[in-house]
Amino acid sequence: MRLLIVGGGGREHALALAFAADDPHHQIYVAPGNPGTATAATNLDISADDIDRLVDAADAYAIDLIVVGPEVPLALGLADRLRGEGRAVFGPGASGARIEASKAFAKEVMQAAGVPTARSAVFTDAAAALRYIDLVPEPLVVKASGLAAGKGAIVCNSRDEARQAVKAMLADHLFGDAGTVVVIEAFLAGEELSVLAITNGRDVQLLPAAQDHKRLLEGDHGPNTGGMGAYSPVSIATAAVLARIRDEVLLPTLDELARRNAPYRGVLYAGIMLRPDGTPNVVEFNCRLGDPEAQVVIPLVGPGLVALLDAAARGEPLPRVDVRDGAAVTTILAAAGYPDAPARGAVISIPEDLDPGVTVYHAGTRRRDDGALVTNGGRVLAVTAVAETFATARAASLAAAERISFDGKQFRRDIGWREAERARTS
Ligand code: AMP
Ligand code: GLY
Repeated sequence: MRLLIVGGGGREHALALAFAADDPHHQIYVAPGNPGTATAATNLDISADDIDRLVDAADAYAIDLIVVGPEVPLALGLADRLRGEGRAVFGPGASGARIEASKAFAKEVMQAAGVPTARSAVFTDAAAALRYIDLVPEPLVVKASGLAAGKGAIVCNSRDEARQAVKAMLADHLFGDAGTVVVIEAFLAGEELSVLAITNGRDVQLLPAAQDHKRLLEGDHGPNTGGMGAYSPVSIATAAVLARIRDEVLLPTLDELARRNAPYRGVLYAGIMLRPDGTPNVVEFNCRLGDPEAQVVIPLVGPGLVALLDAAARGEPLPRVDVRDGAAVTTILAAAGYPDAPARGAVISIPEDLDPGVTVYHAGTRRRDDGALVTNGGRVLAVTAVAETFATARAASLAAAERISFDGKQFRRDIGWREAERARTS
């Protein structure tokens, strides 16, 4: 098949390597890709949100299946344009992508579908939001409704913090357009899970559950990031828990989207808070594979990934894919200054003799004219280890993360700490 992957991060590198392993005869293109994807595919110098040029490239390269990585092109209607030209696209149209692009819309869909989620209210007016804060218990969470690259949710321990967050969004416009609509919701205690469901709009196939580490610093401290590491599978995501998430969250949400004429083909990513009583509550939906979740989930999927995504894209019945035994852990290496102001241009050195179970996915890297690999973004590399056990994968990811070097490298040494704690005490 002729495949086009849209995006240029670690998630897209993981997809490119998985597609290349799926069948050596696939012709794989990535737009724009990165120095990592260049080793498994042909990079096209087209930005992931240049809709016109992506549509032209799909024609020029006679692409059979387009797989869209990031949310922005989906929200801009890339899938609608390509489907309008008769192409198979893995990713929802703009109406379906609103499930991520508008948290206010996602809440409305969940309410209509009876999907369990935190109590919430939506505001565009600061005074009304401040009055609401006086009435609800602490802690609470203030969220910019629009796309904010994973940084739009502020967990507020006190009403005072919540007032400041509302002012930052609705009065001082510090979150730009994303923060002109604000969702205020009740804080949910529990443990988070990322559940990625491949869907043709009616049926779902769940990939192994993952857990992301959103805070910058060890022990889950510091600012929220796009994700500093992840692991999969997660032992608390038992078959029974996943069946509840499918029946109480994913299928009702897809039905409601179809009812609203927003049919959905692609990945529906449910960010779940598993409450202490075992009830899954939705924290957010994304319309794409998570990053860095993809860098642990995709390597665990056996042969048949392309056939699964292709069937979902065409609205056909979903073939089953096998999931390999074992576990994957990824550690993100981030640039100095991430998440606020990541430094660029530091020379990266990756030892040749890393553990054979380790794959280094490129996220924010660039080849300099002299051929040197340099940092070029906040999250630079995702260091994934796959092994028979979680403990072995965790140790191998950490050991490789220690050995790769660049100036100002930031990373967490405690990825998977909850799972390690469970193993220790069980
Ligand atoms: P979001 O942008 O909605 O995914 O939120 C980012 C992060 O904020 C989540 O991954 C959670 O860690 C945290 N968060 C968001 N909403 C809640 C909530 N209602 N209760 C507790 N934590 C939350
Ligand atoms: N890692 C969280 C996300 O992709 O939204």
